[in-house]
Amino acid sequence: MSAGETRVLVVGATGEIGGLAARQLVEHGATTALAGRHRERLQERARALGGRPWRTFDAYDLDGCAQLALWANTALGGLDAVVVAVGVAGFGAAAQVSDASAEHLLTVNALGPMAVVRGALPIISPGGVVAVVTGEIVDRPALGMADYAAGKAALAMWLGVSGREARRAGITVVDARMPHMDTGFASRAAVGSPPALGPGADPEQAVRQHVVAPVLRAPGR
Ligand SMILES: NC(=O)c1ccc[n+]([C@@H]2O[C@H](COP(=O)([O-])OP(=O)(O)OC[C@H]3O[C@@H](n4cnc5c(N)ncnc54)[C@H](OP(=O)(O)O)[C@@H]3O)[C@@H](O)[C@H]2O)c1
Repeated sequence: MSAGETRVLVVGATGEIGGLAARQLVEHGATTALAGRHRERLQERARALGGRPWRTFDAYDLDGCAQLALWANTALGGLDAVVVAVGVAGFGAAAQVSDASAEHLLTVNALGPMAVVRGALPIISPGGVVAVVTGEIVDRPALGMADYAAGKAALAMWLGVSGREARRAGITVVDARMPHMDTGFASRAAVGSPPALGPGADPEQAVRQHVVAPVLRAPGR
């Protein structure tokens, strides 16, 4: 696999999956711009990857999410692909999860990523790729995860429809339904505690297969 000069925005680059995706893309020759919430971690990752442009955002700021692609397009001199690996877990029986927690889970897992993609589709170059991490939970929703599953399912549905629309412009939208991985994601839940989870898939391999390989199919500069 080689990315040539594929210009990629990685959103959620401070996370485990986003960080792995950014590193693997750089190893394959891509040019990356990084967006994330945690300023210091983002700065450090941008530095570790050779001094990449970076920008902070919060999923609650939907306008800010929608501006990320425009920023990356300017910073990289064009934009061929976008990776979105933003999300937060939440646990608890549906009847016990507060409306505030439900709003949090739906915003970070669905509305924020949708706003990023909405902002990217008019900007990304023909033949480009948008890869958004959803998860296998869309196909196998578990008890005690109704709000998290609803957020991911809403995102998956939206990606399916917007992907059919984007195909007319030659852009591929990838719904990356990644398996459970031991990234510590569940332990950072916004609400509740995770059940005992079985061993996860290897994150390096899963990111390569579900995110990096599709992105590298985007024609570069
Ligand atoms: N790990 C798994 O088993 C698994 C399986 C399938 C799908 N996924 C999905 O993969 C994605 C990344 O997960 P991960 O395993 O890499 O976990 P992670 O390390 O916790 O990454 C989560 C990312 O989301 C960001 N984020 C959370 N709340 C945010 C907010 N309000 N505004 C902006 N960014 C926010 C985090 O930013 P900070 O660094 O600032 O916290 C971080 O970059 C998530 O969408 C998750 O649903 C994970």
